[in-house]
Amino acid sequence: MRIFSGIRASGDKTLGNYSGGYRQYRATQEQGEGVFCIVDLHSITTAYEPEGLHEATLAGAAMLFATGIDPERSIVFAQSHVKAHAEAAWLLSAVTSFGELRRMTQFKDKSAEQEFVSAGLFTYPVLMAGDILLYQTDIVPIGDDQRQHLELTRDIAERFNSRYGTTFTVPQGVYPEEGARIKNLQEPERLMSTSAGNPQGVVRIVDEPDIIRKKFKTAVTDSEREIRHDPVAKPGISNLIEIMSVAVGKSVDAIERRYADDAGYGPFKEDVGEAIVALFDPIQDRYRALRADEGALRKLLSDGAERAREAAAPTLAAMYERMGFVRLS
Ligand code: TYM
Repeated sequence: MRIFSGIRASGDKTLGNYSGGYRQYRATQEQGEGVFCIVDLHSITTAYEPEGLHEATLAGAAMLFATGIDPERSIVFAQSHVKAHAEAAWLLSAVTSFGELRRMTQFKDKSAEQEFVSAGLFTYPVLMAGDILLYQTDIVPIGDDQRQHLELTRDIAERFNSRYGTTFTVPQGVYPEEGARIKNLQEPERLMSTSAGNPQGVVRIVDEPDIIRKKFKTAVTDSEREIRHDPVAKPGISNLIEIMSVAVGKSVDAIERRYADDAGYGPFKEDVGEAIVALFDPIQDRYRALRADEGALRKLLSDGAERAREAAAPTLAAMYERMGFVRLS
């Protein structure tokens, strides 16, 4: 079974990325052949600094290994190192409609935040579809915010297959049961994200332990002090319960039961903070060691790119052939 997922090279990754991304990558790599991509080409679709991209790409690779991706077992690479991704995006733009792209909620949200709305931000989902389809992917571990993009990828695959003959595996999205949509601790109605929302409510994997503790201590909760999971009526506390569930690997029910007779929100928030500090502590140690050895990191990326090129080549060739391009031998 082929597993593919991508993660943007941008800023410091969050607890949300851990929950919907890294945690699932590590678990799914045990089930088959994992391919994990730092999608640096996607990172240029919103305002960015070249030095920032450079650093974020290397940091992104270090974080994948620090959270448990095994380079012996899985392929880890940067998107720009495998030209097939840019080519696939162009070819697939022939089977993606303007109307479909215009309906993407991520485009609507992100374009509203930008002063300059790039064409790349609009066609972003086509590049993403190519990432996935080039590898004959069976499953795509992602968070809930990427669901619409994955559904579009499936539509694009089916359209290509029916127009040009079966070429792609139609992939399935895999979402975590709990923690598929981690919210900002200060604004529990919005997704935790580095690009928008109150930064005090965004927990980064590389945050200092005391910063993490403080962010949880000041997390927004509601007035009724019962620790119960009810995302509509109690978004703040429900988010914290889900985060606790991610941190300790227990169900939401188990967390509710554990805190049923406890003394309210204060101690619970502290416990969640400590659980996240304990979860991220070993990851931070590994991350720092990996990031410090840039030579080793570049070597891992170079090996990964070579394996990814090999894996993507047959599908890209089939795309060109079926679409009628003249191929030179
Ligand atoms: P990105 O880099 O924004 O996020 C990486 C992964 O983290 C998940 N995630 C979350 N999960 C739960 N709660 C949150 N608050 C939260 N925030 C982020 C995302 O769902 C994602 O799984 N478009 C993608 C990158 C991409 C990709 C791909 C993914 C490009 N090509 C191919 C899968 C397959 C993105 O921007 O992810």
